[in-house]
Amino acid sequence: RISVIRTLGQLRRWRKEARDKGLEVGVVPTMGALHEGHLNLVRTSLSRHPLTVMTLFVNPMQFAPHEDLSSYPRTFERDLSLLQSILPPLASPRQMRGLGVSEHDSFRSPQPSSSSSSSSKSVSSSEGVNINSPLIIFAPTPDVMYPLKGELQDLNNHKGVEVDVKGWAEVMEGASRPQFFKGVATVCTKIFNAVEPDHAYFGQKDIQQALLLRILVKDLLLSHPTPSNLHILPTTRSETGLALSSRNAYLSPSELYVSPVLYRSLSAARELYMAEGGDITGEDLISASTRVILDEQERILSTFTKESEGGGTELQLDYIEIFDKDTFEPIRGPIGDKRQFVLAGAIRVGKTRLIDNLLVGWE
Ligand code: PAJ
Repeated sequence: RISVIRTLGQLRRWRKEARDKGLEVGVVPTMGALHEGHLNLVRTSLSRHPLTVMTLFVNPMQFAPHEDLSSYPRTFERDLSLLQSILPPLASPRQMRGLGVSEHDSFRSPQPSSSSSSSSKSVSSSEGVNINSPLIIFAPTPDVMYPLKGELQDLNNHKGVEVDVKGWAEVMEGASRPQFFKGVATVCTKIFNAVEPDHAYFGQKDIQQALLLRILVKDLLLSHPTPSNLHILPTTRSETGLALSSRNAYLSPSELYVSPVLYRSLSAARELYMAEGGDITGEDLISASTRVILDEQERILSTFTKESEGGGTELQLDYIEIFDKDTFEPIRGPIGDKRQFVLAGAIRVGKTRLIDNLLVGWE
């Protein structure tokens, strides 16, 4: 019940059929190596729209030459079976017909079908892409996403089009990774143009990315999606508080033990703000948060820390920042009471860079 699309032609034909049938499309862009965080985005889209496209593309343009493009986990078969396992029960034959379903028919809770054989006789679609599959995987090859000749050889120094969100892409994650957001903004513009989604789903885990993409669709006057149809869903965490990430696969057991410190450090700052209120300054929150990480560094370095408790792990702070949700300006001085802001940070645990954030005053 999942269809895989690899070419732009196929995608466009499928999209036209969806539009002709009045079926709403949600998109979930990913780089694969799926985990519960990604799956929660897909689940939400599947529960709200009859059709969801998950894009699965490790985008070369957002990796700097020294970064992990070649080693980034690629687990296509596993991703497919994970997605298969979360699909809702088969829709009723009436829903499966797609046509003639009134706008008010809910796709939220498809009725389990008593006759799966009749539901598998679905309406045929262009080139085998079944319009009745609730979930489409768009997994293009790099030359589909970067069609200009020679473009792929040096994506950061090529003749072609780049989308650069000035003023939002240079701070925080952008300061640590100068090409990163240009790559993200460019590939997401391409994805939006290719899929023409009615709704798009992104994770709070990468909050700067999600907010920057909202700026992008607004400033480029995109209508698929509109800024208000670009949804940001909460971060999925492990029991220890660690934000799930495809890169967690790089962590050794002792590194895994240490990694939740970033969430704890941001939580400490949020608690301080909750306790003290708006007189407290941005600087106070940054130092409270930083303190938690420095304490953990000391604990790791202490003579008696066992490996199973993180002993021997290298922990480095990259940054802790507090910034305004709408302007992206770092907040310094008294924060004030009804401020909507983001506490964000990045650390290095061994060779792995981890990011996380908490929203305060809005959620
Ligand atoms: P990727 O890291 O695969 O993440 C895909 C989407 O899943 C992003 O919107 C990300 O914020 C979300 N996500 C990741 N971990 C999450 C978690 N623990 N909880 C909730 N959501 C989570 O982000 C990218 O890919 C790329 O930059 C992309 C947007 C696909 C452009 O190439």
